[in-house]
Amino acid sequence: MERLLVTGGAGFIGSNFVHHLVEHTDLSVTVLDKLTYAASRESLAGLPEDRVQLVVGDIADEDTVDPLVAAHDAVVHYAAESHNDNSLHDPSPFIRTNILGTYTILEAVRKHDKRLHHVSTDEVYGDLELDDPKRFTEDTPYNPSSPYSASKAGSDHLVRAWVRSFGVRATVSNCSNNYGPWQHIEKFIPRQITNVIDGVRPKLYGSGENVRDWIHAEDHSSAVLTILEKGSIGETYLIGADGEKNNLEVVRLILTLMGRSEDDFDHVNDRAGHDLRYAIESGKLRQELGWQPQYQNFESGLADTIAWYQEHEDWWRPHKDATEAKYAQKGQ
Ligand code: NAD
Ligand code: DAU
Repeated sequence: MERLLVTGGAGFIGSNFVHHLVEHTDLSVTVLDKLTYAASRESLAGLPEDRVQLVVGDIADEDTVDPLVAAHDAVVHYAAESHNDNSLHDPSPFIRTNILGTYTILEAVRKHDKRLHHVSTDEVYGDLELDDPKRFTEDTPYNPSSPYSASKAGSDHLVRAWVRSFGVRATVSNCSNNYGPWQHIEKFIPRQITNVIDGVRPKLYGSGENVRDWIHAEDHSSAVLTILEKGSIGETYLIGADGEKNNLEVVRLILTLMGRSEDDFDHVNDRAGHDLRYAIESGKLRQELGWQPQYQNFESGLADTIAWYQEHEDWWRPHKDATEAKYAQKGQ
């Protein structure tokens, strides 16, 4: 494998993956990205031009996708509409990009017989009770809650059907909540960090008891590369780093690390249909493919992430007012 097509490579996790590839492989990479509000060319700045090329285009456009897939050895598919809150406001781009876009990629890899890795989310499994001793595994039934997670569940089912019906050489991964550099400030952790930088109190949905299973984006990247290189065709792998924390704990930790009182936050309107808890059991990936996360100390990973946002204000500042104005309309 020499040439990799990475869809959504100008977004948060995709750009972390492209940086990871440049550092850890000899692959040449083409990023296919529509450059939606969630993307940023700057996330790819400084990467060697002879290794990384950006093509601006839509994954749901067959005329764009087909020749690009034909010209590469494999596709890693990150491109998606990714924010639950946005999907509650307007589901339509989620259906188009996440379902129709994935269908378009699948038809191209089928036609040209290319290897595909499809990147998905633990949200397809719905949520867990706080005291449930079980965590999500590859055998957990699908039960998505939001338009976003339902659209990702639909995309996963399409991939599985194309493997079974057409012999497409694909793998799927479902990962938990990522944090790290280049995450859009609409998302929980960077929203609160940039609020604190601005002297604004962090905003906690509802009671803050909701649990997310945090993983550093760098660990997600190493897991995806491991699956691409060593995964068995047709298999699904759950990616997680044993990082369960409730939102209240995370807000308090951000405030403490940034030198503020840990009670200096506001409770705001809850998200409709808000999933209570996600938790990943990633034994299959660890035991079968030998993957291990490197960022096992959430507090130090979070401190690095806070430092990144403090040092990269030019990257996020242009989006802050518009992002907060959208939340303010909903009392969030
Ligand atoms: P993001 O919103 O930061 O980035 C998505 C990227 O996809 C953007 O660069 C955007 O421009 C691009 N894109 C959107 N629509 C497109 C289209 N029609 N054609 C081409 N490009 C398009 O998202 P993210 O958080 O980096 O998530 C990336 C993938 O990882 C998604 O598939 C998401 O479901 C999955 N995932 C995310 C998390 C997380 O915690 N963020 C966890 C597990 C899985
Ligand atoms: O689990 C993987 C998923 O994680 C990915 O599939 C999604 O693409 C990604 O956005 C993320 O989904 P969440 O909905 O869990 O992430 P978000 O950052 O939006 O919210 C995390 C938690 O924080 C959630 O319980 C809602 C809460 N929250 C969020 C915001 C933006 C707040 O309490 N306050 C906020 O301001």
